Amino acid sequence: MGDNGMTATMIQSVTLDDANDTLVILDQTVLPNEKVFLKLKELKDIWDAIYHLKVRGAPAIGIAAGYGLYLGVKASVAATKEALAEDFKRVKEYLASSRPTAVNLFWALDRMEARFRREQGGSIAEIKEALRQEAEAIRAEDEQVCEQIGRHALSLLEPGWGILTHCNAGAIATAKYGTALAAIYLGEEQGYGFKVYADETRPLLQGARLTAWELQEAGIDVTLICDNMSSIVMKEGKIQAVLVGCDRVAANGDTANKIGTLAVAILAKHYGIPFYVCAPLSTVDLQCATGDDIHIELRPDEEITSKWYEKPMAPAGVNVYNPCFDVTDHEHITAIITQHGISYPPFADSLPAMFAKQASGT
Ligand code: MRU
Repeated sequence: MGDNGMTATMIQSVTLDDANDTLVILDQTVLPNEKVFLKLKELKDIWDAIYHLKVRGAPAIGIAAGYGLYLGVKASVAATKEALAEDFKRVKEYLASSRPTAVNLFWALDRMEARFRREQGGSIAEIKEALRQEAEAIRAEDEQVCEQIGRHALSLLEPGWGILTHCNAGAIATAKYGTALAAIYLGEEQGYGFKVYADETRPLLQGARLTAWELQEAGIDVTLICDNMSSIVMKEGKIQAVLVGCDRVAANGDTANKIGTLAVAILAKHYGIPFYVCAPLSTVDLQCATGDDIHIELRPDEEITSKWYEKPMAPAGVNVYNPCFDVTDHEHITAIITQHGISYPPFADSLPAMFAKQASGT
């Protein structure tokens, strides 16, 4: 249990306080040492929270963007629908500039725009209310989606297995349960007794600060390792499956996820360990043909050289390359697990089939 009695699976990391025109987020940059909820009113502060990873993880970014767009439009003083549409466009474009790789950001903003367009027959107040409902629906649906992903993923796992995960694709990166960690939570409820190995995930340590924290709070057997130790735990036979989340899946199955994921996938293939990607369909981008079309975010140098250190850990002025994500080529991926089931290669066929299931409501 956490210091306020709530474990991570119970925490809602992104919520709306509509009465106070406020977005409430769990500040993921100060975990695990402090559990702080930020109350954000200004659009600039919401943009900053996304950019600085106070709210992070593809689904949570999408949820924050939906609420942010609603709050930005709610604050508009536009007296005509034309003027409101101008404000909508401005707020949407601003939020869309916060992070480039997680497609959930753009998916949520586009979904809000589709609702905005559908509601044009109503009054300005009715349009604003419809946007609130849409943002709430994005959050509520994510909870269900994550649980479904967890059930499908669990069907691939066996009791007592060692599971390696990278970055944090857990409860706090989503509305609830997580994507990659959902099966771990569900398995724990059913007595599977998984042993989870969490890569620390340099440079921002999402594995150490967030995954290790949320699993430990939930009483799950978790062992923290440095990123360069995943080969040894695989070689020692400690890992029977790898489960990761993702930020964007291209039509051919190439998958962008936190930097370091590609190395884990190559190692898993070398040792004959299944490598599973857990993804809501909101993370699958059929408009991207391959991973080469995915925009990889470059982050500030200081995240590598000094951010988490008392003193700099690199010579001043050294050249730094800090891609935030990498693309795991589809041939290294055993399966992509969505809320509508398990996609196996060839992904160019099986991913569209998942969208067809979604469209038919099955
Ligand atoms: O830069 P971050 O911390 O937002 O990166 C997050 C990841 O890479 C996650 O694995 C991904 O978004 C899936 S979260 C369910």
